[in-house]
Amino acid sequence: MNYLSIKNIENLKEWVDEAIALKKDLLKYQDLGKNKTIGLLFFNNSLRTRLSTQKAAMNLGMDPIVMNFGSEGWALEFADGTVMDQGKSEHVKEAAQVISQFCDVIAIRAFASLTDKEKDLAEEVLTAFAKYATVPVVNMESSVGHPMQALADAITIEEFKDSHKPKVVLSWAPHPKALPHAVANSFIEMMQRQNADFVITHPKGYELNPEIVKDSKVEYDQEKAFENADFIYTKNWSSFNDYGKVISQDKNWMITTDKMVKTNNAKFMHCLPVRRNVVVADDVLDSENSIVIEQANNRTYSAQLVLKKILETQ
Ligand code: CP
Repeated sequence: MNYLSIKNIENLKEWVDEAIALKKDLLKYQDLGKNKTIGLLFFNNSLRTRLSTQKAAMNLGMDPIVMNFGSEGWALEFADGTVMDQGKSEHVKEAAQVISQFCDVIAIRAFASLTDKEKDLAEEVLTAFAKYATVPVVNMESSVGHPMQALADAITIEEFKDSHKPKVVLSWAPHPKALPHAVANSFIEMMQRQNADFVITHPKGYELNPEIVKDSKVEYDQEKAFENADFIYTKNWSSFNDYGKVISQDKNWMITTDKMVKTNNAKFMHCLPVRRNVVVADDVLDSENSIVIEQANNRTYSAQLVLKKILETQ
């Protein structure tokens, strides 16, 4: 079993409930991964994903090996039939099979380039590892999705929602750098499977991949979108149509207390890291309604559940 996108979750409610149960008895399956190794390969930086996935693996008795592949590994070739007489030293065909000799599970973080839309949409790195590895592969954020984050987000919403069907708003916010679409994409796919009133709000020009957004509601007026919201999930992303470009840094889209008061006392969510007073004002992030730390904490239980499911199939 691979965990490459939230499409690999058969029954989201069952998985969320199981993760919440796991959280109450963290070491219940501490022998499940005994004598098994997980290789965590990072082509990009991380704080939460790296530590929470290691912690999850250790809670299951696994031994994690972490490699910052981007700076420490050989530069990988991904194309078939290439004459490798330039800068790439090793083909992913060998690399993935060799790593499979050392590891029982391989987890990979490889962000979007934001320069080559075709390769990004094909999830070149993740797809190649899934093709050539002989052990299960886990997506720790690819060029298209961040399904470990989305599962943690679903756990967090389940824990903080009250009995009524929640209104959940995914709001774009400004950022000085071009950021990928992965977190927003997986959050949208996850919300499409939830019993929620889901609205996406962003400035015109920041439309996400229509194949992911499908018929989810898009509201270009941020204040209107915020009315009666129970959860405000904030994230910046670069343009999808003008691929990878920052086409606006409109400060009026920053999340402020003035906007939060228009909601139904909404909880504030963000996957982190977040830029204070650019994406969100200090007083929102520091308020009682901010649940970003609880959301980050749930990354461990999201990863632990995914690894438990994989170990149970091995
Ligand atoms: N949310 C998230 O994936 O955090 P890191 O980039 O720090 O892992």
